[in-house]
Amino acid sequence: MKAKQLIGSLIAASLIVSSVYAVNIEVDETQLGLRKVDLYTEDTAVPDGTNYNKEAPGTSKRFDRAYTNAPPMIPHDISELGEIDKNNNACLGCHMPDVAKTMGATPIPKTHFTSFRPNVEVDSDDNVKAESDDQIIKKDLHGKLWQGRYSCTQCHAPQTKGNLKVNNTFKPDYTDKKGQKHKNKSYLLDELNIGVQVGNGL
Ligand code: HEC
Ligand code: HEC
Repeated sequence: MKAKQLIGSLIAASLIVSSVYAVNIEVDETQLGLRKVDLYTEDTAVPDGTNYNKEAPGTSKRFDRAYTNAPPMIPHDISELGEIDKNNNACLGCHMPDVAKTMGATPIPKTHFTSFRPNVEVDSDDNVKAESDDQIIKKDLHGKLWQGRYSCTQCHAPQTKGNLKVNNTFKPDYTDKKGQKHKNKSYLLDELNIGVQVGNGL
C-alpha cells in the first residue's frame, strides 16, 4: 500500500470510529442546563437563595468598584432601615456629606446634588423642546439632594454571596491614569464630558 492510500484508509477508519462513538454518547436532558434538573418544569429548580451581608454599617468592608465611576455596591445590612420614599430616607442620616465623616461612611458625591436635566418648554402643539440639545446641563443644587436620586437602592444594591454557576470574569480596563487612581472613588463630576469633547467636538 502506498503512503497516500495508507493515510486515506487511516482517516476513513478514524471517521467511522468517531461517528460510532458519537452515536453512543447519550447526554441526559437533565444534564444540559446549568441547573441539572428537568428542563420542562420549574418545580424542582431550587435557587441558591440570596445571602446578603449581615454586618451593620460601620463594621462591613467596602467592595471594590466594578469599574471607574460605577455606583458602589452596598456592603452593609440595610434590612432594618425601612422603606425609602422621597421624604423619608435613613441612608441620608449617615451618608449626607455633613455627617458622613463622623459616621465613617462615604459621603454622597456632588453628582447627586446636581441636576442634569434640561428645562423643557412645551409649545402650543404640545412639542417638548429642551433648553439645549447640544450642551451638558449641570445645575448645582447647593447641597440639596436632586430628587432623581432619592431612591438610593435603584442604583446601589447589596451583593449576595451565592454559589455562582457562571463566574463574572470582567476586569475593568482603566482608560487613563486618573481612572486608575480613582478606582474606588467617584470623580464623575470632573469628567462628565469625557468622550464628548474628544468624540464630536461639541
Ligand atoms: C448607620 C449609618 C449608615 C446608614 C443608615 C447607611 N449607611 Fe451606607 N455605609 C455606612 C458606613 C459606615 C459605610 C462604610 C462601610 C462600613 O463601615 O460598613 C457605608 C458604606 C456604604 C456604601 C459603599 C460606599 C463605598 O465607598 O464603597 C454604599 C453604596 C452605601 N453605604 C449605601 C447605603 C444606602 C443605600 C443606605 C440606605 C439604604 C445606607 N448606606 C445606609 C453607614 C451607613
Ligand atoms: C440614578 C442612580 C443613582 C441613584 C438613585 C443614587 N446613586 Fe449614588 N452613585 C451612582 C453612581 C453612578 C455613582 C458613581 C458616580 C458618581 O459619583 O456619580 C454613585 C456614587 C455614590 C457614592 C460613592 C461616592 C464616592 O465618592 O465614591 C455614594 C456614597 C452614593 N452614591 C450614595 C448614594 C445614596 C445614599 C443615594 C440615595 C440618596 C444614592 N447614592 C442614589 C448612582 C446613583
